[in-house]
Amino acid sequence: KKVVLAYSGGLDTSIILKWLQTTYGCEVVTFTADLGQGEELEPARHKALLLGIKPENIFIEDLREEFVRDYVFPMFRANAVYEGQYLLGTSIARPLIGKKQIEIAEKVGADAVCHGATGKGNDQVRFELAYYALKPDVKVIAPWREWDLTSRTKLIEFAEQHQIPIAKDKRGEAPFSTDANLLHTSSEGKVLEDPSQDVPDYVYSRTVNPEDAPDRATFITVDFERGDAVAVDGVKLTPAALLAKLNDLGRENGIGRLDLVENRYVGMKSRGMYETPGGTILLAAHRGIEQITLDRGAAHLKDELMPKYAELVYNGFWFAPEREMLQAAIDKSQEFVTGRVRLKLYKGNVSVVGRESPYSLYDQELVTFEEGAVAYDQHDAQGFIKLNALRLRTLGQRKKRMGK
Ligand code: ARG
Ligand code: SIN
Repeated sequence: KKVVLAYSGGLDTSIILKWLQTTYGCEVVTFTADLGQGEELEPARHKALLLGIKPENIFIEDLREEFVRDYVFPMFRANAVYEGQYLLGTSIARPLIGKKQIEIAEKVGADAVCHGATGKGNDQVRFELAYYALKPDVKVIAPWREWDLTSRTKLIEFAEQHQIPIAKDKRGEAPFSTDANLLHTSSEGKVLEDPSQDVPDYVYSRTVNPEDAPDRATFITVDFERGDAVAVDGVKLTPAALLAKLNDLGRENGIGRLDLVENRYVGMKSRGMYETPGGTILLAAHRGIEQITLDRGAAHLKDELMPKYAELVYNGFWFAPEREMLQAAIDKSQEFVTGRVRLKLYKGNVSVVGRESPYSLYDQELVTFEEGAVAYDQHDAQGFIKLNALRLRTLGQRKKRMGK
């Protein structure tokens, strides 16, 4: 029996690794992905070897470009935001990790896959929906739902018994749990659990405090082609490099911090803190270019579909037909979403200050208050308003008849 484990190299997944070997007695294959979390991957290889994994059973992959190109960008075409504020940084990464685990399972002939998400959260759902969609007969192992290592003390004991190296700061209670990739860093749990209390300063890791950001605004441009960002300040960049560039700009200007209480798919409310510096700029920029390139009907329909799309991503239904249907509609809408947006970054804020496009639908002639275009005759507005008012007048008359 073989199992492919999503392995970060950290203490928790190292314990899972040993637990799989000892409890299930199965051969463990590790998969470590670079999603731009900002950690070296070679230490994970080293640690896996140390824990007895055969070299040919260690898989390490740089997924940064694929992550941004095939997951983050399609999602941003939809302007997806969950519950009005969350930019879905963790949600969007899980399907890709799940997909890669299944690819590796097929390659090495493993019948099982394993992840380190708890039994109380969204991530277990997202990983497992991806697994089952791509390998219907797969066996899923979720240690946190199964084992008896139910306290920090027991975990540390287990690690010591099995010669798993423990960093000094990992011996005590972890102060909070984080998840990071190129799009965001999220922090949840422990010191963040009381939603009436401020997020302590030390929890923030990838943005400066807006109050300490420069007193002078930064102006940038972002170029779009068919709904995807392709250049910053006129310099063409790959998807991952572009998001990294926006992350730098966002970090310096304190952009993209969010303290949120959200509804998990499994039913409970949870409080988290998110830092999505580049994504926050990208969302504003994308909306800016859509303002001049999208027709009203298309734009409004898109905005109606958006919460549904965001919920599907949040709940883990990336590989579901309804997400793909919405994606097709959204992608179609992006045909002419091409052009340049100018943005102002200042102390935690991002604002669109200019937009231009060869496909712009904005017609200054049409909108001007000055003597205007022939396509619009102000006299037409009278009939337009009167026909629209017909129902309201009928209702008004009835109200009057009834004396109220
Ligand atoms: N609540 C976020 C989500 O469901 C983040 C979950 C992972 N975060 C973490 N700190 N472990 O997408
Ligand atoms: C977890 O439970 O592993 C993290 C939080 C979540 O998935 O919602």
